[in-house]
Amino acid sequence: MSFQHLLKASEFGSHFEWGVAISALQNEGAYLADGKGLSNWDVFARRAGKIKGGAKPSVANDFYYRFKDDLMLVKALGFKVFRFSIAWSRILPEGTGRINKEGIAFYHRLIDECLLLGLTPYITLYHWDLPHELEKEGGWASHQMLKWFSRFVKICAEEYGGKVKNWIILNEPMGFTSLGYMLGKHAPGKTSLSLFMSAIHNAALCTAEGGRIIRAELSNAHIGTCFSCSEVMPFKDTMLDIAAAKRADILLNRLFVEPVLGRGYPEDPQFSFLEKLHLHTKAWKYKERMQFNFDFIGIQNYFVLTVKHNPLIPYLSASEVKAASRKAPHTALGWEINADSFYRMIKRFWHYGSIKEIIITEGGAAFKDVLHKGRVADEQRIDYFKKYIAAALRAKKEGVNLSGYFAWTLTDNFEWSEGFEAKFGLTHVDIDTQARTIKDSGYWFRDFLKT
Ligand code: GAL
Repeated sequence: MSFQHLLKASEFGSHFEWGVAISALQNEGAYLADGKGLSNWDVFARRAGKIKGGAKPSVANDFYYRFKDDLMLVKALGFKVFRFSIAWSRILPEGTGRINKEGIAFYHRLIDECLLLGLTPYITLYHWDLPHELEKEGGWASHQMLKWFSRFVKICAEEYGGKVKNWIILNEPMGFTSLGYMLGKHAPGKTSLSLFMSAIHNAALCTAEGGRIIRAELSNAHIGTCFSCSEVMPFKDTMLDIAAAKRADILLNRLFVEPVLGRGYPEDPQFSFLEKLHLHTKAWKYKERMQFNFDFIGIQNYFVLTVKHNPLIPYLSASEVKAASRKAPHTALGWEINADSFYRMIKRFWHYGSIKEIIITEGGAAFKDVLHKGRVADEQRIDYFKKYIAAALRAKKEGVNLSGYFAWTLTDNFEWSEGFEAKFGLTHVDIDTQARTIKDSGYWFRDFLKT
């Protein structure tokens, strides 16, 4: 496709924000330093067999101690925005109660350094690491979550609001609620439908309430929240597969954004899960409280899914037909690469009509990188970014108010249950020595951002 070869960053306009995103748990390490409390992931990673290679996030890539060097990398690669998350367990080691001054001070140092380097900080308030003490009380499935989260948000706004304008409330609620409480693959490793439904509802309430708190504290803030999304295709053109794809689509793409837009949870008489969810959460009472007029919505699209009808899968009755088995291009995690599908997802969010601005708050891919003689020649990742950025440009040119693209991620890091094996960084990290090596894709970005 010739479009992508002519790609120039300047085509996105001079106000477009190019950034790079990280998260606290995946990068910081220093898991008990300076009064930090344990997080759900610190504890979950200790359970045998939960993380590939038995990896733990205790040190991760040592961002807590190396943030100045890593921000220099952000600068060297030419990005103007730095998105990071705050570890709740540094601010409130027990999740509630006593504030940890040293934890507060760390994010002041980080923000100050960003500002010194001319990088615009975007703070994510919650990127999947919950204080362990709160997880013990039920975590996202507890009805106290709204109260706990509200206090945390207020503290962050009061502390950092004078310096930071851009706020993201939750990172991908579908990710941490489903993987954590239904599928057992992420912290806290639970597998319960009713916990999952409670977690969904508390996350939906916290999303909107978090927005309201930031708005009340900081009238000039630029407030958003991020959603994962994946176009879902039926494997075969049969009624059963089409219905399976529709159910998966509701869960993956509509469940969280529609309440925010004031539509409440989706309804579909063919999908009994939704009826259960409505009853379990008494959703009719909460429609207004789940709504918030966000300044922007963050979209994170890592794959397109193909599904077929499968009666053995509870509630969803659908299962994935892997990209590899269909001989479709895919990343090292088996995730199908399809930039046209990414373009369609951006357009689809925009078509709701009530989203004011969209930012691609994460985009990137894992490949099997090889460090050879001081170089990582990650051609596949460069190709991936070229295609996905071209797709974003296409959507923008067609009228979507797309205002930023943040690459995932700066450095190889702790990739949740994949441990250190899945590598998404623009910079390679030797996890034993912590040495950083900019990959070819990092240099590609640097050159691209000058165009
Ligand atoms: C996202 C998540 C990130 C990162 C990425 C790649 O869902 O927000 O933390 O892990 O996926 O898997």
